Amino acid sequence: MTARKPRLLLTGATGFLGFSVYHQAKEQYQILGIGNTHSLALPGMQMLKLDITQETGLRNTIRETRPDAIIHLAANSDVNYCQQYRTETDKINVQAAINIAKFAAELEIPLVFTSSDMVFDGEKGNYTEDDAANPINYYGEQKLKAEEWISKVHPAAAICRMPLMLGPAGPTSKSFLQAHLEKLSNGEALHLFVDEYRSPLFSISAAQGLLHALNHFQGLFHLGGSERLSRYELGLLIANLAQVSNPNIVASNQADVAMPAPRPQDASMNSGKAMIHGFHPLDVAAELALMLAK
Ligand SMILES: NC(=O)c1ccc[n+]([C@@H]2O[C@H](COP(=O)([O-])OP(=O)(O)OC[C@H]3O[C@@H](n4cnc5c(N)ncnc54)[C@H](OP(=O)(O)O)[C@@H]3O)[C@@H](O)[C@H]2O)c1
Repeated sequence: MTARKPRLLLTGATGFLGFSVYHQAKEQYQILGIGNTHSLALPGMQMLKLDITQETGLRNTIRETRPDAIIHLAANSDVNYCQQYRTETDKINVQAAINIAKFAAELEIPLVFTSSDMVFDGEKGNYTEDDAANPINYYGEQKLKAEEWISKVHPAAAICRMPLMLGPAGPTSKSFLQAHLEKLSNGEALHLFVDEYRSPLFSISAAQGLLHALNHFQGLFHLGGSERLSRYELGLLIANLAQVSNPNIVASNQADVAMPAPRPQDASMNSGKAMIHGFHPLDVAAELALMLAK
């Protein structure tokens, strides 16, 4: 008799990162994916449409399905939208995250939560887990609030701060990479910041990191890529690997663009702690080259 696969509850399954987590997890886990406005029919994943800001529905789903593990990705990660619609986005970015942690803790279910490099003010860069968080936009505040509550209600949870991510589009989602590639191939100008630094990570490495975190991490970890790149440098790398001749990439500064939410200038993260504990992200260029070659 074959042993049953462990059951993974995956919120945000219809999102960009959810698609890569599904792909990396489907051999090992029986997946129950949750989407809100979208649904997906993919082999090895049972799909449930549920607005997880509805506490009762969320609690009943966790109690009735009794998953062996939960990866909570669902969020509103539109930084400008969160800045403008605080009460509305608190429901998914803060309250739903706390509720999931509470219900998971009651049943002793291992949990991974995806936070963000936006918890930092960007004054220093190369941030470790010991550096003080000091968000300068409301989305960063929401993620930090969720982190603080989750560590209280579910101390064994892994809280993974994610960097800027790029990767393959799913059937119902994409990353900024797809928009960049489209503009580059049309010869449209791509204005990219020379003064915003991040630790970009490919979604496949990110998904592998989150699955590793599920079994090996407790507490706070940075899951960034190993390189610090400006948005502009990343754009040039993408254009180069996509073999775009004469890419129309225009260097710009954050101050050139009026945005509702301020952005940290250097939110690069040092992910040495996770790397010592088994997180081994591939180089963004290597993963991107593989994706573009397909
Ligand atoms: N992408 C990045 O570069 C990045 C960087 C740092 C951190 N993160 C974090 O990583 C996680 C995944 O990001 P992502 O880029 O994959 O996000 P995404 O593509 O915007 O996907 C968001 C997901 O959340 C779901 N969702 C939103 N509201 C919901 C609700 N009320 N009930 C149930 N599900 C709901 C969406 O479902 P429907 O589509 O079905 O409505 C979707 O599956 C998020 O926590 C984000 O904050 C992302």
